[in-house]
Amino acid sequence: TVVSVKQALSGKLEAGSTVTVRGWVRTRRDSKAGLSFVNISDGSCFDPIQAVVPATVGNYETEVKHLTAGAGVIVTGTLVPSQGKGQAFELQADSVAVTGMVDDPETYPIQPKQHSMEFLREVAHLRPRTNLFGAVTRVRHTMMMAIHRHLTEQGFFWINTPIITTSDAEGAGDMFRLSTLDLANLPRDEKGKIDFRKDFFGREAFLTVSGQLNVEAYCLAMSKVYTFGPTFRAENSNTPRHLAEFWMVEPEIAFADLNDNADCAEAFLKAIFKAVLEERADDMAFFAERVLPEAITRLENFIAKPFERINYTEAVEILKKSGHHFEFPVAWGIDLQTEHERYLAEKHVGRPVVVMNYPEQIKAFYMRLNDDGKTVAAMDVLAPGIGEIIGGAQREERLDYLDRRMAQFGLDTATYGWYRDLRRYGTVPHAGFGLGFERLLVYVCGLQNIRDAIPYPRAAGSAEF
Ligand code: 4AD
Ligand code: MG
Repeated sequence: TVVSVKQALSGKLEAGSTVTVRGWVRTRRDSKAGLSFVNISDGSCFDPIQAVVPATVGNYETEVKHLTAGAGVIVTGTLVPSQGKGQAFELQADSVAVTGMVDDPETYPIQPKQHSMEFLREVAHLRPRTNLFGAVTRVRHTMMMAIHRHLTEQGFFWINTPIITTSDAEGAGDMFRLSTLDLANLPRDEKGKIDFRKDFFGREAFLTVSGQLNVEAYCLAMSKVYTFGPTFRAENSNTPRHLAEFWMVEPEIAFADLNDNADCAEAFLKAIFKAVLEERADDMAFFAERVLPEAITRLENFIAKPFERINYTEAVEILKKSGHHFEFPVAWGIDLQTEHERYLAEKHVGRPVVVMNYPEQIKAFYMRLNDDGKTVAAMDVLAPGIGEIIGGAQREERLDYLDRRMAQFGLDTATYGWYRDLRRYGTVPHAGFGLGFERLLVYVCGLQNIRDAIPYPRAAGSAEF
């Protein structure tokens, strides 16, 4: 029977059973006794399985002795208790079928040694074959599934919001515009000039920056909903925390205020961390050993303690009194910069912190104005090492207030007519947030750069593959 490396190593199969394992060679070592030890990985779990190949297999001299890292193999043999340390089982091989040798092993990019992250980004098509990217990929999957599972258990419905949109959900002007390649039929205005603004079947359209506005409409019918998909930002920020294409999960809850929203975000993050610790212990052990020693303990602490919650105004006071030198000076009214966010999460609290009630001028048009007239019911969850991982708010459910905020931000009410309808037809208080999925993955794995948290990073200056 064909089994995955994970199944073969699980201890659930009986010693002595005949199995077939398929995967890619990690290393080969030949012993003087005329045996080869071939480590094979198939991505199913962190550890490779060791196949012990005797010189008696038919293709030993012609193929087995030439296997190098990266070669594709199918090995059939007997599962036996392992002599070496670390693993319970190894595979005593009867046959080794080589599906693909590696052309020119000298130049195969993934050698059994530590490569720099910069180098691995240049071979994004091969980096999943490394220990690190295998682990990141499995943790990414586990986190995505944990998100769907947790929200489903809490009674949320997954709503698929559009990627092509006509309105700017954040009102920040960071959208990529769609453009046709049909050069012969480019849209033209009355004077015959090319009108790039009408490229989407005679209209202007963009890649979405957030599914929030669309998901709000479903919230005001289905009560608890979320959207989870790719989003796009044209901010030209070449930083370790920004991508041009990233995944965002955005839950939205009806009849909820900012505190309910923070409660929801807290339970949500804790559920994700719990799933990672329970389901990806092998990968997390690797991150703790090789990437960040506190990778596991900090998640455990984070689950064990309630989140710290502070008001923006209080946060500004803390930063001012800190005596710390910030590049960007602190004053009430500023948008907190990453250095400020990191100070709060790292130095002040020592773990993630929720900052609430920001000045209205620096936050999006849809956020609910507080009674003080100066702040909005916004919240950001800040994590050590990264800064903002979640941004959210109670939404402005009062039409007159919303219209005033839209005017203030110079937004055209006509484009947002359907969004205004939600305030005209049975408006209710509601709140939601957005989690930048890759930022959370960076945090969980202890990575340095968000480009290593998505299989094929798209950012200013990088979009190959
Ligand atoms: O704070 P943002 O812009 O909020 C929204 O988009 C709201 N519509 C969310 C909501 O309330 N439903 O983005 C939310 C999160 C940020 O906290 C950050 O984690 C992530 O998205 N994010 C990015 N991640 C990677 N690359 C970028 N360029 C990002 N921009 C935002
Ligand atoms: Mg934000």
